[in-house]
Amino acid sequence: MFRVPLCMLLPLLALLQLLGAAHSFYNVSQRTFELDYKRDRFLKDGQPFRYISGSIHYFRIPRFYWEDRLLKMKMAGLDAIQTYVPWNFHEPQPGQYDFSGDRDVEHFIQLAHQLGLLVILRPGPYICAEWDMGGLPAWLLEKESIVLRSSDPDYLAAVDKWLAVLLPKMKRLLYQNGGPIITVQVENEYGSYFACDYNYLRFLEHRFRYHLGNDIILFTTDGAAEKLLKCGTLQDLYATVDFGTTGNITRAFLIQRNFEPKGPLINSEFYTGWLDHWGQPHSKVNTKKLVASLYNLLAYGASVNLYMFIGGTNFAYWNGANMPYAPQPTSYDYDAPLSEAGDLTEKYFAVRDVIRKFKEVPEGPIPPSTPKFAYGKVALRKFKTVTEALGILCPNGPVKSLYPLTFTQVKQYFGYVLYRTTLPQDCSNPKPIFSSPINGVRDRAYVSVDGVPQGILDRNRMNVLNIRGKAGATLDILVENMGRVNYGNSIKDFKGLISNMTLNFTVLTNWTMFPLDTEALARSHLGNWEAADEGHLDGHSTLRSSNFTLPTFYVGNFSIPSGIPDLPQDTFIQFPGWAKGQVWINGFNLGRYWPTKGPQMTLFVPRNILTTSAPNNITVLELESSPCSNGTLELCTVEFVDTPVIG
Ligand SMILES: *[C@@H]1O[C@H](CO)[C@@H](O)[C@H](O)[C@H]1NC(C)=O
Ligand SMILES: *[C@@H]1O[C@H](CO)[C@@H](O)[C@H](O)[C@H]1NC(C)=O
Ligand SMILES: *[C@@H]1O[C@H](CO)[C@@H](O)[C@H](O)[C@H]1NC(C)=O
Ligand SMILES: *[C@@H]1O[C@H](CO)[C@@H](O)[C@H](O)[C@H]1NC(C)=O
Ligand SMILES: *[C@@H]1O[C@H](CO)[C@@H](O)[C@H](O)[C@H]1NC(C)=O
Ligand SMILES: *[C@@H]1O[C@H](CO)[C@@H](O)[C@H](O)[C@H]1NC(C)=O
Ligand SMILES: *[C@@H]1O[C@H](CO)[C@@H](O)[C@H](O)[C@H]1NC(C)=O
Ligand SMILES: *[C@@H]1O[C@H](CO)[C@@H](O)[C@H](O)[C@H]1NC(C)=O
Repeated sequence: MFRVPLCMLLPLLALLQLLGAAHSFYNVSQRTFELDYKRDRFLKDGQPFRYISGSIHYFRIPRFYWEDRLLKMKMAGLDAIQTYVPWNFHEPQPGQYDFSGDRDVEHFIQLAHQLGLLVILRPGPYICAEWDMGGLPAWLLEKESIVLRSSDPDYLAAVDKWLAVLLPKMKRLLYQNGGPIITVQVENEYGSYFACDYNYLRFLEHRFRYHLGNDIILFTTDGAAEKLLKCGTLQDLYATVDFGTTGNITRAFLIQRNFEPKGPLINSEFYTGWLDHWGQPHSKVNTKKLVASLYNLLAYGASVNLYMFIGGTNFAYWNGANMPYAPQPTSYDYDAPLSEAGDLTEKYFAVRDVIRKFKEVPEGPIPPSTPKFAYGKVALRKFKTVTEALGILCPNGPVKSLYPLTFTQVKQYFGYVLYRTTLPQDCSNPKPIFSSPINGVRDRAYVSVDGVPQGILDRNRMNVLNIRGKAGATLDILVENMGRVNYGNSIKDFKGLISNMTLNFTVLTNWTMFPLDTEALARSHLGNWEAADEGHLDGHSTLRSSNFTLPTFYVGNFSIPSGIPDLPQDTFIQFPGWAKGQVWINGFNLGRYWPTKGPQMTLFVPRNILTTSAPNNITVLELESSPCSNGTLELCTVEFVDTPVIG
């Protein structure tokens, strides 16, 4: 790939910014963006227009890199970018809003504007996107009977409040108001959902119009099939379709035409790659097929959005899942033209070459791929097991209940809850525990008795576990939420123990539940941790009765080497000998690792979370089995490498 020093890019950046700024000198009233039904196209300021756009999700890229990625998209010849807005990312608790830092969607849209990119906004409220619960906040499930994505009055009330916060922020960013937003999507592939509730779509249309006005083009997107558009479209919302390289362009647009006899042909999600699941091979879309299909779409005169142009990362706990339950990994690379780390790929240049056949693409240097650095191996040491660290993880103490409560019932939406009770009977001869009704473990549980690991229960795969212990022994079940279902009819995905646990058919009662604040633990400094020693059950913590070890935090640190220019640089972390868990660097939650499952083996570490001014602190929560659990410190390492392995 090209390596161009940043200084050569600066004049270009300045020029683009000047061009962007020039927009604001236009008389705002001259800025129009309209559907030209007569000639099957858009009119931008009265001139014929079709867009070539690419999807980028600001919520999957650190703010630090927004401009770099947007500039690369601009240099590929795109007219526009498309982004979703995930409701749950911005309203973590009912009525608590966050639009700061990496969540500053207005700043992101302004950056696109400054670079001369238009914006296609998809504010949901449901977005799918392989994102936890399709972007809906988990707290909606506090009303257990709620019917999501329907006219359920409680759902509508929550949506109404949210839109009244988000949409007014977007109004000044609309094209006709001097901003870059040309079109706004209502809902997302609604025809793929069972509800088919036109009153819900009408409600959304009414609220979008109320907040954004009558001049903005509102549209819907559905899979290119008659029955999907039937429930996904509404009069006055412009109907568009989505399909990938295997779609038949003629047939797909005939279906759009059945619902939208006139107006521009639009593929709102033309798939450059595809999503992944843990335990399945990394998805790829062949570049030759992609560019051939893109050429045909553009030759057709269609407007097209490439989904994704850059996928990015499911940091922290944000990945979603599909049914039958299959969670998505941390990387959302998507085999897109720009890699997860924003690197230029062969696909990027191939796509740019196709676009160049239809319009001018900007001349001048393309921002190079960022350099990567292999910081090497870092030794970790055992800090505390989860049960030993409860004083830090659960400072407000546990919740008690006769029968187990779900995550939402204890107001813990992500990560982990520790469920604890005592064994009512002697299990010196192993006895089976399982949930009743079956599959009530959402999603994966790490089971121990008196600090001795027993094994794992898993939503799909491992329903029964034989455990051993004396009557009165402490049974600990650490339940991991591996990501809420984001697509289809099962998006009401309660987490935790959602049915009773039984010990050989006896219902277990009198539970103590600890909602765990893993972020607080990762943020706290080592010095404070040492002082906060709780010392529960620690005598047994290194016992191995099986291949499993207790869920345990490991810590370590590394310093950025001196004397090498331009450090810190981006890197990738891998977990030789580790099994499954979560990793933080300097308190930033990088996501889940699961090398025993794959396909993803390394996690992207953006350089903006690293520092040269102090040692960089690594926190690892290993849930199943760590290479250092038997005391051989040499084996207990993570490694920073300069090349990603995601397939
Ligand atoms: C694509 O669809 C059109 C319209 O239905 C049909 O005539 C054509 O045969 C299809 N092409 C292929 C390759 O299937
Ligand atoms: C489990 O319960 C059944 C029926 O109550 C009993 O026959 C069986 O022996 C029990 N199993 C164990 C391992 O205790
Ligand atoms: C647990 O069992 C009790 C007693 O049989 C029952 O009342 C309760 O509804 C069950 N809870 C769940 C979540 O199944
Ligand atoms: C559960 O707790 C209640 C109240 O403390 C107690 O009466 C009951 O015996 C306990 N049940 C079991 C199985 O320990
Ligand atoms: C890492 O932890 C140490 C000890 O608490 C602290 O002094 C240092 O500032 C931390 N490093 C960063 C980058 O926060
Ligand atoms: C440990 O794992 C190995 C390989 O997967 C398996 O053969 C063995 O039975 C396991 N041992 C226990 C105690 O579970
Ligand atoms: C950093 O790691 C070294 C071992 O590599 C250790 O001696 C030191 O205490 C650690 N510092 C902190 C702040 O954890
Ligand atoms: C620890 O485990 C490793 C590999 O699993 C083994 O080679 C080593 O001998 C073990 N050390 C101890 C002290 O058990």
